[in-house]
Order: sequence, then structure tokens, then C-alpha cells
Amino acid sequence: MFNVKGEHYALINRCPHEGAALSFGPVVGCFSSKRPGEYALTREGEMLRCPWHGWEFDIKTGQSWCHPESVKARTYAVEIVPGEVLAKGPFVAETVLVTIDGDYVVVEV
Ligand code: FES
Repeated sequence: MFNVKGEHYALINRCPHEGAALSFGPVVGCFSSKRPGEYALTREGEMLRCPWHGWEFDIKTGQSWCHPESVKARTYAVEIVPGEVLAKGPFVAETVLVTIDGDYVVVEV
């Protein structure tokens, strides 16, 4: 799961190259250049680099940076909802009877 500037995305935790866990890779950006010696960091925080061989994937689409037309990490739809929507209450904790008997605390289970 990724939060890219307030938008949430999910990628499969398996690199399409040789199966590394993508969750161990760093979140990075892209460098672009209009001429030699000049470069700019763009799309900071929008790319994920595989920890094994460095393939990079667009977090929003799963597409490979090097082969966007043929290699893609699977993406999943993400929906943010309050927890009570997923599991409705009221929730009741289990309780047990506790009494004091002289110097002892008696817990009945
Ligand atoms: S396993 Fe991810 S780039 Fe090789």
C-alpha cells in the first residue's frame, strides 16, 4: 500500500521479473534531462524500485519504467473506509468474576 501525495495505491508484493518482495524496495522518483549535465528530479515518491535488480515501477499504474508496454506489476483498487463500516459494533469484551478473599485475588475462569 502506498500513499502518494494523499492518493492511495496498492501493488502486488511480487516483482514480475524474478519475484522479489517489492515492499523491501525504496520509493523513488524519476530523473529527467533536457541536455547532458542537467537533470531534474520529477515524480518524487511515485516510483518503486525492486530491491533485487533495480527494475522500477510506477506506483499508480504498476507499469515498468523500462518496458511499460510489456511489463507490469499487478495493481489493486484501494478504498478507504472507516473501520466501523468493515466490522460493526457494539463490541463487548469478555469479562470474568474477580473477588478478594483475604490476602488472595480470586479470578474465576
Ligand atoms: S526480481 Fe525485481 S528486478 Fe529482478
